Amino acid sequence: MRVVVLAAVAATAAVGLRTQYADYDKLCKATANGTVPEAQTHRRKKVLLNLHFQHGAGTYFCHLAKVNCERVWGSACNHYGDGGTSPHHIIVRDCAERRHEITVSKPSFVGLERGILSGEWCPDLYDYVVIVREPVSRHLSRRVIWGTNKKILDALRELLPLVGPPGAAGAVAPADVGRRDSILSRLRDAEEAAQVAQLDNFYTRALAANTSVYEGAFGATCTSDLDTALARLETFKFVTSLDYINDHTADARRLFRHSVLGWTNFSNAAINEHHAGEKAPTDILSTAELALLADLNELDRAVWAYADRRALREGLEVLALLNR
Ligand SMILES: *[C@@H]1O[C@H](CO)[C@@H](O)[C@H](O)[C@H]1NC(C)=O
Ligand SMILES: *[C@@H]1O[C@H](CO)[C@@H](O)[C@H](O)[C@H]1NC(C)=O
Ligand SMILES: *[C@@H]1O[C@H](CO)[C@@H](O)[C@H](O)[C@H]1NC(C)=O
Repeated sequence: MRVVVLAAVAATAAVGLRTQYADYDKLCKATANGTVPEAQTHRRKKVLLNLHFQHGAGTYFCHLAKVNCERVWGSACNHYGDGGTSPHHIIVRDCAERRHEITVSKPSFVGLERGILSGEWCPDLYDYVVIVREPVSRHLSRRVIWGTNKKILDALRELLPLVGPPGAAGAVAPADVGRRDSILSRLRDAEEAAQVAQLDNFYTRALAANTSVYEGAFGATCTSDLDTALARLETFKFVTSLDYINDHTADARRLFRHSVLGWTNFSNAAINEHHAGEKAPTDILSTAELALLADLNELDRAVWAYADRRALREGLEVLALLNR
């Protein structure tokens, strides 16, 4: 098993070396007349790692990385094995393997479009960065997937009343357990692979850096997982919320410039993919269903609230520094 994983990584690194910096070459080397802008590649000791929650503005973050001349892998900045939430897109690599990849292909910004799994927390290699989107808004943005697969939305409508009332996120009455499990298995069939894990407290799961938590049963995340997630987020070098970027664009621009990112090229998230700039559309679930979805993700709402508060605070700190 391990041999297979290493072989896959080695093969990718070899292929990647020839092709993966096309954007960088086009946007940066060319405009700088063949000179790599000093700005980006040698500025930091560590590689930036964008924890990319699907439909949470991770692609927008990757886009900004490109126009700021970061050296990135592929279209979504993910290395092979780090993209998507489907199990067959996942290759777990420990810090030694990741160090090797970095040494070989020298990125400056990478994406992890899934949870951090056991053994993959590597703060010696990476400066972790993240944009957190209000969780209900992110779920509704995934209607792009639901829209092409109405079974998902129908199953969700059936599921939500079972997991209420507010305050009992994830828990169902003993009599409803069978029904819940049958809905979940329908959802599992309808969404590609294990995307059901996206439904309840995905941020908390993704930040635990513990495969058991990430893959835990529906409703299984608890407040101690949230404590772990928040403690980890505290150590991230850059944390902001999509709402902050959308609602305080001028402040966000300064924050991106004067943070570990040091980026001077900036654009509002509204221009980018996956409806990142949209407010949550409220037309696809009723108010009561939306409240249940929020309740189901109450741990993630705490993760988002932390990110939003931190963005506001650090935005003000930057402003105070510049005005001194
Ligand atoms: C680009 O570099 C070449 C060679 O160093 C130089 O001759 C040329 O003038 C440069 N072009 C611009 C637009 O700076
Ligand atoms: C950065 O922004 C400037 C000014 O808008 C633009 O001319 C330049 O092309 C941008 N750089 C990249 C790499 O997109
Ligand atoms: C991972 O999570 C499981 C389930 O919550 C827990 O029993 C285990 O102790 C955790 N592992 C670590 C290393 O924290």
